[in-house]
Amino acid sequence: MDDMNKKYGRGFTLWFTGLSGAGKTTISEIVERELREKFGKIEVLDGDIVRTNLSKGLTFSREDRDTNVLRIGFVADLLTRNGVGVIVSAISPFKEARDQVRRQIGEDFIEVFVDAPLEVCAERDVKGLYKKAFSGEIPQFTGVSDPYELPAAPDIHIHTDEEEPHESARRVIGKLEELGYLARVEEYNRA
Ligand code: ADX
Repeated sequence: MDDMNKKYGRGFTLWFTGLSGAGKTTISEIVERELREKFGKIEVLDGDIVRTNLSKGLTFSREDRDTNVLRIGFVADLLTRNGVGVIVSAISPFKEARDQVRRQIGEDFIEVFVDAPLEVCAERDVKGLYKKAFSGEIPQFTGVSDPYELPAAPDIHIHTDEEEPHESARRVIGKLEELGYLARVEEYNRA
């Protein structure tokens, strides 16, 4: 087996970070479908869902957001170590917490920055939350009244205002192929 494939069969964590409405969930759902076919064992940890169970009751203070992110990171690490492909989708606005998770998971951590200008996210306003954030009804809203710290060196940088979700998902899968986590097409054909 050549060097390219030394990671074949290993678990990984794809960590989607970005503003609410940037497209994290949309892209991660496409990636999930593809990876179920190509890789098999996939688990999804989505901030909105995690906050209804594992992180139930947590607020959006910095401390609670960090707790949420570190909890997700803890579970992602356990799964990754056991050969599962993990897809995380959480705003995860603070660099220090993201980097802590990166250190915990190590080289199998792949940071995907889902980037769109605030105005574009607010314009989309899929959940109607930006309207409430701008009026002050929702305090501490990321990008409006709470910080989002930009990833300094994401493994993948996606501009969702310039690219279709399928194209972005394709790039994510391409990165996994490039890193050697997925079998190459020729190997499928040989199998
Ligand atoms: S994180 O900051 O702790 O990583 P997480 O991704 O779990 O956030 O949850 C974000 C989701 O919670 C948003 O997509 C939105 O639906 C909802 N939400 C409610 N209040 C806020 C807020 N103040 N800031 C950001 N998102 C909020």
